Amino acid sequence: MNIFISEEVDKLSRDYIENPFGNRKDKRKEGWLEIINALPKPDDIQVDLATQVSVNFPCDDNKKLEEKLLRLLPWRKGPFKVNEIIIDSEWDSRKKWERFLNLNLDLKGKTILDVGSGNGYYAFRMIGEGADKVLCLEPNLMHVSQFAAINNFIGSKIVRMIPERLELLGLESSSFDLIFSMGLLYHQRNPKKHLSELKKLLSGNGKIILETIISPKQYGEALEPEEGRYASMPNVHYVHTDFGCKSLFKQLSMRVVAESQLEITTSDEQRKTKWMPFKSFESALDENNNSLTVEGYPAPKRKFYILEDSGI
Ligand SMILES: C[S@@+](CC[C@H](N)C(=O)[O-])C[C@H]1O[C@@H](n2cnc3c(N)ncnc32)[C@H](O)[C@@H]1O
Repeated sequence: MNIFISEEVDKLSRDYIENPFGNRKDKRKEGWLEIINALPKPDDIQVDLATQVSVNFPCDDNKKLEEKLLRLLPWRKGPFKVNEIIIDSEWDSRKKWERFLNLNLDLKGKTILDVGSGNGYYAFRMIGEGADKVLCLEPNLMHVSQFAAINNFIGSKIVRMIPERLELLGLESSSFDLIFSMGLLYHQRNPKKHLSELKKLLSGNGKIILETIISPKQYGEALEPEEGRYASMPNVHYVHTDFGCKSLFKQLSMRVVAESQLEITTSDEQRKTKWMPFKSFESALDENNNSLTVEGYPAPKRKFYILEDSGI
């Protein structure tokens, strides 16, 4: 039998193929399952994961299909193309993916862990770049429902999603060539512990792809938002400076092998859409001064680091 990444990962993830939410409790589960189970299960399907996440199959009622997919909103990450339906998510995740691709890291044949994967948009793009297998961890069941819906069409057996937090999963005997942590560091109460947990799961020449918000250098190691609110987001504990990130890496004996430029987030990348009709980027910034968040902090700029164990 084909083992998915390791015996441990295979065992932990196998049941979620048929039962995406496992025994996690959520009032919305039944409604989501009803939608997912009512989606068409086409045999004759064209899939493109290289330049986008798109599926195409014969369907006599795309309008009805769109109505079903809309019931899984809010769609935060995307876009996904299902026949003529464009799931225009809140984030245009192509932009972050382009910034990652510019770092020229080869994904071919790699086993990957994507921690905080959202609905799997990036995982599908990783497969499109030739990754061997991708394990997604995502505790928010709304994202899990969207993954199940999209993978209902794609039918990928080399991407699996576990609806659990990294620290609760207790992986002990598995390792990954690449580990993605995108948009997680600033939500950690103990960012050093987060990175150290990722480091433990790296294979010999493994690399961590860390993507996070960076605050300006006047904050020393990190900006600590009052009451954990930053750009209208709750649970933001530390927004590290570049210096603060590098000092964390040094404490953990991690070396930066590549890094991106800082990229300011704009309403081209994050905005309200039909598929995410609630508060979005416009409520994150001060309406009279777009260089500040509503709380008066510097507006978000994001950056990628690729890290490996420096062995010292
Ligand atoms: C800001 S979103 C980023 C999503 C995606 N990685 C991206 O870059 O667009 C953070 C995601 O991480 C998930 N998350 C938060 N804490 C986590 C943890 N301890 N383990 C795994 N996922 C976590 C959240 O549910 C959320 O979907």
